[in-house]
Amino acid sequence: MDIFDVITSDHEKVKKILEQMQHTTPKAGKRREQLLQSLAENLQPHMYAEEQYFYQVLLDETDDKETVFEAIEEHRVAKMVLSDLHEAAVDDLRWAACCKVLKELVEHHVDEEENEVFEVARKVFDEERASAAAKRFKEMKKESPAEVM
Ligand SMILES: [Fe+2]
Ligand SMILES: [Fe+2]
Repeated sequence: MDIFDVITSDHEKVKKILEQMQHTTPKAGKRREQLLQSLAENLQPHMYAEEQYFYQVLLDETDDKETVFEAIEEHRVAKMVLSDLHEAAVDDLRWAACCKVLKELVEHHVDEEENEVFEVARKVFDEERASAAAKRFKEMKKESPAEVM
């Protein structure tokens, strides 16, 4: 498993949780809380490791900085909506609205990341480095602070 596989597998997990969240009703408060917690536990460390390590390497070593800054900006928006979701009551219509917006945002971001960002990254992460980077990425995820940042 190289860093591209690790990132893609994280994406699949997050997309699945958002899909499950979208199919809940305001009556399923407990389930919504559990899914939101699981989403935050998966999404936050992932974004942290990308920002602190993966994107950082791309900013330092490639000329395609615009693609990376766009991704960073999308993370910022995702964190805002994630924070709104935490604040919304689970039985409120706003919860479902925030969930839908976050799902669309994540899907768009993941799509760009797996195409445009990965294309940039493959210029600096050759086979050997991409493989070593998988370990580093997982370590960075563990260093992620618990709250939204
Ligand atoms: Fe990602
Ligand atoms: Fe990302």
